Amino acid sequence: MLVNAKEMLVKAAAGNYAVAQININNLEWTKAVLTAAQEHKSPVILGVTGGAAKWMVSFSTVAAMVKAMDKALGVTVPVALHLDHGTDAQCNACLEAGFTSIMFDGSHYPFAENLSKTREFVDLAHKSGLSIEAEVGSIGGEEDGVVGAGDLACPEECRQIAALGVDFLAAGIGNIHGVYPEGWLGLDFDVLAKIRDVSGGIPLVLHGGTGIPTEMIQKAISLGVAKINVNTECQLSFAAATREYIEAGKDRQGKGFDPRKLLAPGYEAIRQTVREKFELFGSVGKA
Ligand code: 13P
Repeated sequence: MLVNAKEMLVKAAAGNYAVAQININNLEWTKAVLTAAQEHKSPVILGVTGGAAKWMVSFSTVAAMVKAMDKALGVTVPVALHLDHGTDAQCNACLEAGFTSIMFDGSHYPFAENLSKTREFVDLAHKSGLSIEAEVGSIGGEEDGVVGAGDLACPEECRQIAALGVDFLAAGIGNIHGVYPEGWLGLDFDVLAKIRDVSGGIPLVLHGGTGIPTEMIQKAISLGVAKINVNTECQLSFAAATREYIEAGKDRQGKGFDPRKLLAPGYEAIRQTVREKFELFGSVGKA
């Protein structure tokens, strides 16, 4: 059931668990996430970067696929289709394409510009019934061409962005896209607690969900994080399962080269990773 992400995240924040945003890259990814969510009765957010949308041709192609698949699979759990790290143009394209949620990422602008542009997109999104995420500070590392310095968010800036009426807020707290490097300092919970105290109780978002240790995930949830984004981890599990299949020579046995056979282990690996995230974030049975 396609919905915007506001209600599921407000519910998660109140219930002390988090909803997973799992980024999708193609049809197999989408099917793996939707079937896992339905099977485990978990709400879920499908994240789409500009780069992933380009691979899948366009945002409208993605929206059409997700809507058709959601219906054909008879998915009853709440599913949001969300733009990840959107530019101005991408936000407009997703409003047009029928996404149910957008992230306007103005974190690379000077703060006054981030504030004014976020205000515009809050109005546009809400007029069309979409939920909207904004970003303060920045997420370190790189994701589909979006590079961040990993600046810690300033709580006063978070307060001002939250006051615009954004539905959920991503803040840089030492988190990084991709695999965490050796010697990573961990999440800054002092900053997270300060942000929670000034953001009027809106659900907070933790990007860079791949590889964050369980205790840090639990502590972040206890401090107001209600949405956790995971992308790289599914890519790694898909790649490992596919590698194993090929290295075992299975593509050379009988019709093992059939794409439905070749992609099946990777598909199952994504489903397994998604299940583990639902369990870790506490969202199983919450739909
Ligand atoms: P990871 O790729 O580190 O899981 O981060 C995903 C993310 O934050 C999507 O915006």
